[in-house]
Parts: sequence; structure tokens; C-alpha cells
Amino acid sequence: MEPQYLRTVLAQWATGVVVVTTHAEDGGRHGMTASSFTSVALDPPLVSVCVASGGATCRLIRASGVFAVNVLGRDHEEIGRRFSGPARSDRFALGDWGTATTGAAVLSDAVAWVDCVVAACYPAGDHTIVLGLVQDAATPRPTAPLIYHDRTYHEGITR
Ligand SMILES: Cc1cc2nc3c(=O)[nH]c(=O)nc-3n(C[C@H](O)[C@H](O)[C@H](O)COP(=O)(O)O)c2cc1C
Repeated sequence: MEPQYLRTVLAQWATGVVVVTTHAEDGGRHGMTASSFTSVALDPPLVSVCVASGGATCRLIRASGVFAVNVLGRDHEEIGRRFSGPARSDRFALGDWGTATTGAAVLSDAVAWVDCVVAACYPAGDHTIVLGLVQDAATPRPTAPLIYHDRTYHEGITR
């Protein structure tokens, strides 16, 4: 299967958009935009995200053993772009960020967030499936979610 072709086919799958955050050994924050977030189980409460194994986010989640998942709202497109762009700039310069129990950053006006400790990491090709045991969760702002489809951001339907 030609990767570029497969990417085009899979781009037809609409998803929500999250920012996965974690922290470095020196306490610095790190985060990246992701669409691979999934609810896995309720008992025990487990969620997953697939992260590129060679990336900074994967390395830092493995080292810290914690991460948070922030569900972006309809007006968070710029945050989605910033957290998928070059990490040289301060990705956290956009948005109002607080700190959850694990030390991972949470967005004060996220549609929802979950704060996790790493339960397991499974290698999956060039990515790693990170399974998180949920420690805390919140729904700070009941608004429509940001949607990603066909490589384009869309506003979700307002409740
Ligand atoms: C909408 C969207 C969804 C993305 N989903 C993922 C994902 O699920 N996993 C992943 O590893 N990268 C994903 N990316 C790409 C990362 O956000 C991007 O490569 C980022 O720069 C990685 O940051 P890092 O190198 O600091 O880990 C996505 C990008 C966009 C725009």
C-alpha cells in the first residue's frame, strides 16, 4: 500500500481534535495536536492515543509517565495548528493553560479534558499506542467540538 494513497483514503474519516500534553524532566510543558484519541474502557477508565514513536511527545510521555488529553472546541483551530507546527515557537503561547493533578497542562476552555497516568505503551509500526488510566476528567465548556476531515478543520454542530 502506497502511504500517500492510504493517507488520502484515511483522511475521509472525520475525527475530533485534541491536544495531548505532558511535561519534561525540568517541568517544561510539551504538547501536540492529535486525532487518534479513543475511549477504550470504563472499568477501569482507559483511553488511548497513537503518537509517532520518533517524536518529542512520545519520548516525553514515556519519560514522565503522564499525559492529558484536551478536546478542542469549534473556535480552537489556531491552537490545533500551533500544536502541530514547529515546536521551536512556544506552542502554549495560545490559550489559557492550567495544570492537572499529574502535572500535565489542561486548557481552561477545552470542551473536555482527561488527565492520565500511562498504563501501557504498545509499539505499532512507526507509532506507539499509549494507553492511559484516567485520574481526573472535566468538561469545562459545553460548546461544539472542532472537527478534522479531509485535512481541513470544521466547526462541529452546536448543541
Ligand atoms: C489534525 C491533526 C491530527 C494529528 N494527529 C496526530 C496523531 O494522532 N498522532 C501523531 O503522532 N501526530 C499527529 N499529528 C501530527 C502532530 O501534531 C505533529 O507531527 C507534531 O508536530 C508532533 O509534535 P512533536 O514532534 O513535538 O511530538 C496530527 C496533526 C494534525 C494537524
